[in-house]
Amino acid sequence: MFSLIKVMQSRMAKTGMLAIALVFAGSISADVNTGEPLQLAQLTDGFNAEETYMKSCFACHNSGAGGAPKLSETEKWNTRMEKGMAGVMENVITGVNAMPAKGLCFNCTDEDLQAIVQYMYDSSQN
Ligand code: HEC
Repeated sequence: MFSLIKVMQSRMAKTGMLAIALVFAGSISADVNTGEPLQLAQLTDGFNAEETYMKSCFACHNSGAGGAPKLSETEKWNTRMEKGMAGVMENVITGVNAMPAKGLCFNCTDEDLQAIVQYMYDSSQN
């Protein structure tokens, strides 16, 4: 199981990291320049959405345990996303039914969690 995860991580990590790096490059470099603590929630340094998904979310969202939407279920993801990312994130952060608060990733920031949800949604569209 562990080595399978490693293989999957290394195969798909690059695309996600590039996208994240492009989006957040501006705010990260601003922080480095001023040396001041950041006011807004943002991605944890070195955060990798797919890697964290494999650690925290995969167990339920790969098996569909408790009705968790799987990444292979395009229609289910589209229906859930109809309420908008903000509504989905509210459920992810506080938990809903068998979905535990923060998907059990307690050191994830809200931005980290949203990057994982974006990764999950994007994967479901393939
Ligand atoms: C213990 C099992 C479990 C774990 C771990 C888990 N989930 Fe879930 N998740 C669920 C279940 C079950 C649902 C469906 C809840 C419902 O709508 O009844 C769900 C639903 C969701 C939804 C849809 C929410 C909505 O508004 O429709 C998202 C997004 C999500 N999970 C993200 C995550 C992320 C991100 C992680 C990891 C950081 C994670 N989950 C970890 C079980 C889990």
